[in-house]
Amino acid sequence: MQSLSQQLRTDKVTDSLASVIDTLSKACKDIAILLQNGAMSEILGSADEQNVQGETQKKLDVISNDILKQQLLDSADVRAIASEEEEYIVAGKTEGKYLVAFDPLDGSSNIDINSMVGTIFSIFAAPNKTDINESDFLLTGRQQAAAGYVLYGPSVMLVLTTGNGVQMYTLDQKNGEFVLTNDQVSIDRDTQEYAINMANQRHWAQPMQQYIGELQQGSDGVREKNFNMRWVAAMVADVHRILCRGGFFSYPWDNREPEKPGKLRLMYEANPMSLLVEQAGGKAFADQTAILDIQPSHIHQRVPVILGAANEVSLCVKYHTEV
Ligand code: F6P
Repeated sequence: MQSLSQQLRTDKVTDSLASVIDTLSKACKDIAILLQNGAMSEILGSADEQNVQGETQKKLDVISNDILKQQLLDSADVRAIASEEEEYIVAGKTEGKYLVAFDPLDGSSNIDINSMVGTIFSIFAAPNKTDINESDFLLTGRQQAAAGYVLYGPSVMLVLTTGNGVQMYTLDQKNGEFVLTNDQVSIDRDTQEYAINMANQRHWAQPMQQYIGELQQGSDGVREKNFNMRWVAAMVADVHRILCRGGFFSYPWDNREPEKPGKLRLMYEANPMSLLVEQAGGKAFADQTAILDIQPSHIHQRVPVILGAANEVSLCVKYHTEV
């Protein structure tokens, strides 16, 4: 079976980009070990700090961020990082050719129940200049050089795109290497499965109420077929399911905090997941705009997210367009 480094050579990825991906994969293996040790690592429970989004951080959020930050900043190929857990970008080596944005531990409320979490990352070519600042990260998702995530589940999986389809790797626990286990990742255009936090239904905008309402009516309603619902409550795991067997996912705008455009972060969640989904033949929208076309205004920006099976996303977006 192909190892990650062999596959990156086959894909003709630059040495520098391959080295950044390798650094990310090594840091994630360290995080996986901590997670596998669970309570024995004494890392569960809340840390005293809140992150820049005002959410309580679990200890492992802090530790995962530190592991990724340290290993990436030690790399000669990393110019700067932006993390969901850091208020400001952090500069790396001046000769570094890449910028890395990451969510160190997505779905971290799942840690205490021994359920799936993951690290999501997005890589851009760095500008060729001596000083680096936040505005250098404000690139559209289409400009990503690579994107992916590591899922910490029953097995540890790396899911990656360098713009040439989507590849899934599984961590071989015997030799500590990620090996290619699926290079035919493809999302069917149709699906009968959707993922959304239904508890928020009454807060959604009318088009989303209508779209999901019709799925719920199943064969008794206008869709004339039954739909099933799945919700892991960690975007990384919900999107992984869609890449494995199709489906529709949304974390929509809701009216509880109207000034917040959505819950999920553009740079660390929506952009990398959207590139994976599009590379696998699906679609990803923020209401009426393709997520990958959004020009970010700041690194911690949030967006509504509608992604997955192309025909379902198109129908949902159509409802949003007709308002
Ligand atoms: O943004 C963090 C996150 O954990 C996502 O991974 C997930 O989709 C969402 O929040 C779940 O939030 P809630 O349980 O509030 O719907």
